[in-house]
Amino acid sequence: MPASEADYAFLRQFILSRSENSLDPSRDDLFDARLYRLLQTNGMAGIDELVSKLRLSADPALDQAVVEAMTINETSFFRDQSPFELLRVKLLPQLIESRERQRSLRFWSAACSSGQEAYSLAMMIRYHFPQLAEWKIEIVGTDIHGEMIRRARLGRYQRMEINRGLPARLLLKYFTRDGEEWEITPELRAMCRFQLGNLSHAMPMLDRYDGILLRNVLFYFPDSTKNRILQRLHTALQPDGFLILGSSEQAARHDSWQTVLDGNACYYRPR
Ligand SMILES: C[S@@+](CC[C@H](N)C(=O)[O-])C[C@H]1O[C@@H](n2cnc3c(N)ncnc32)[C@H](O)[C@@H]1O
Repeated sequence: MPASEADYAFLRQFILSRSENSLDPSRDDLFDARLYRLLQTNGMAGIDELVSKLRLSADPALDQAVVEAMTINETSFFRDQSPFELLRVKLLPQLIESRERQRSLRFWSAACSSGQEAYSLAMMIRYHFPQLAEWKIEIVGTDIHGEMIRRARLGRYQRMEINRGLPARLLLKYFTRDGEEWEITPELRAMCRFQLGNLSHAMPMLDRYDGILLRNVLFYFPDSTKNRILQRLHTALQPDGFLILGSSEQAARHDSWQTVLDGNACYYRPR
């Protein structure tokens, strides 16, 4: 039986309640496209059968699989370039100067997908700031998608992923080739730690971060969720830390953040 309006409405509400991703009713066809493989794997005839199962709330693995199938995990190394240029030229040198005594830096790649953002930052630090070799550097990557976190931990990428944004000199220096894949060196992998995390839940925090990258995910959330997440990030950040959002995202209406424009890039300081 084809999915009904009520089935789609249930799925929209289901996703909203789990990941807080807000899906537009005009794009209900996305459910058909993205859930197709999940239906096949689970031997289900259609969306209506899936919805009946979800309504029972009896299978947490199925719930999680549906949430994951509806995320978009698009990412690449050094995505958008200008934020990384900003990090290299301004934000990292400033931080390094002010953390001279502690000799430690912590970053959070929030909604890290398969880890390219975290590893880009690790490569940049190792390549451009050799003076940090003896510092304690920690880059934490979190995402709601279990398979993305597993891939990020592996640090293995296919040629197509490598070809997107990774300069040859960094590929040769920080990856080893294994057949059709390239694997990040143990030194860089040791700088990064990946864990499952839902941005719409409070996350346990041991220490504040010096910098947070929260890119290309805020636009999936309704305004109230965006504000709640930004407020949480505010408490997770050192008073002199920075927040970088995606190029089409902004925290400008949020009075806890000061917007700083810098050439083509933009970042935020906690007020
Ligand atoms: C488009 S990717 C962005 C990846 C990376 N930040 C970048 O800019 O290249 C969005 C990521 O957000 C994750 N995501 C969506 N909702 C989330 C939530 N509620 N909590 C944590 N991660 C979430 C998705 O799984 C996906 O990997």
